[in-house]
Amino acid sequence: MVVVANRLPFDLEVQPDGSTKARQAPGGLVTALEPILSRRHGAWIGWPGTPDVTLDPTTADGLTLHPLTLSSDEIDQYYEGFSNATLWPLYHDAVADSEYHRVWWDSYRKVNERFARRAAEVAAPGATVWVHDYQLQLVPEMLRKLRPDVRIGFFLHIPFPPSELFSRLPWRKQIMRGLLGSDLIGFQLPGGSRNFVRLARTLLGLATSGGSVEYEGRTVRVGAFPISIDSGGQSSLAATPEVHEAAKQLRSDLGNPSKIILGVDRLDYTKGIDIRLRAFGELLAEGDPAARDAVMIQVATPSRERLQSYITMREGIERQVGAMNGDFGRIGHPAVHYLHQSFPREQLAAFYVAADVMAVTPLRDGMNLVAKEYVACRVDGGGVLLLSEFTGAAQELRSSLLVNPYDTDGVKEGLRTALTMPAVEARRRMRILRRQVLTHDVDRWAADFLSNLEGVRDRVAEARAR
Ligand code: ADP
Ligand code: G6P
Repeated sequence: MVVVANRLPFDLEVQPDGSTKARQAPGGLVTALEPILSRRHGAWIGWPGTPDVTLDPTTADGLTLHPLTLSSDEIDQYYEGFSNATLWPLYHDAVADSEYHRVWWDSYRKVNERFARRAAEVAAPGATVWVHDYQLQLVPEMLRKLRPDVRIGFFLHIPFPPSELFSRLPWRKQIMRGLLGSDLIGFQLPGGSRNFVRLARTLLGLATSGGSVEYEGRTVRVGAFPISIDSGGQSSLAATPEVHEAAKQLRSDLGNPSKIILGVDRLDYTKGIDIRLRAFGELLAEGDPAARDAVMIQVATPSRERLQSYITMREGIERQVGAMNGDFGRIGHPAVHYLHQSFPREQLAAFYVAADVMAVTPLRDGMNLVAKEYVACRVDGGGVLLLSEFTGAAQELRSSLLVNPYDTDGVKEGLRTALTMPAVEARRRMRILRRQVLTHDVDRWAADFLSNLEGVRDRVAEARAR
């Protein structure tokens, strides 16, 4: 199997002595795919995280990595531009404004073509090629032209918007046709799948039925496949004495607060970090007993740091944290511990184990794997998950405390409820959440998607044979 994604699972940096250093790349796509691909000994085509770097294919963790070079201009126009300043905000409910530039589109097309060509070179006859995410929506069609023998799956990790938003795109038809080059198109939620099928009908005038679209003499299947994590691995990691010890140490380093509230996100404006800070700040300002001696840890991974929308958001959040610590902190006891850093998995697991309340408040999120990681790490059966209704995860994690992130009072009330929830109730909810996350892991997700993909092609072969 060949995976094609904008990013490789590791950022590869060339050292002064010519050797390469690998660091786990940020984001949920990599978290989810890396373990399944390693187990399957697959190949992965992607960008190594630095512009203008040309590297030979290498093998790491049972995976063959095929690094694809992107120039600085392409990073500006294809990655930061079209992918992250046009598509990303538009697909996330237009929570920030999208920009539309023809040069960005040209670059997007060219880079997608390059990914498609590389996939065509790497894939064995009849191979399965699995293309991922919004950066590469044209690859399925381009690859099909080059290699009609391969099976092509596409999975979108972020939401697929309703037609009212998608239709703003000047290149909406090209993107739809790009995706329809696939045999199977997967979305996180049934809503995304429905949006796509509706657009195929209304925008391209194609014949559709519930989960399929007729396109150029083929039937393209469309469906929802909610992604997950390596739940067993995450749970076992959390159960190690090292993680347990690190969680205890963390609590003591914080001065044994009454409650620890945790947020873990890429520093992205879709994540609603400001919302949870505001809710906690208001509880503190009101002297609410629920928040007495509570502390918040906000871990925020640096992300897309050159984009103005990210710079502005970061400034806002850092101002908010500064103000809260100024107003409510004491010497040696800030109200919010803000860590703009990436952490190893073990350290992140210790944060999850230590946190009494996990606050996940995005305005819109395709899935949100952090919520699932928290649940998988609570091997002790404790902890409360406060979760935005507008995450994909909310569709499955119904026993969390669900909140509307646009409703400040509602988030505040949710946080208060989470901080004061009786242990018996918290454990009851966590038991249900754990059952869900541990039985629906990323292996099951991949097996489900791939068996559906095989099914499509088998039916095609049968039809040809008849
Ligand atoms: P997204 O894909 O939008 O970033 P997800 O919640 O789906 O959001 O996935 C984020 C992934 O990144 C998770 O696996 C999480 O553990 C990881 N992550 C988030 N913050 C950090 C951090 N500071 N250090 C290391 N990993 C992080
Ligand atoms: C989300 C996207 C991924 C992306 C990740 C990190 O998870 O769905 O495609 O890789 O964020 O973003 P970055 O821009 O750093 O690759």
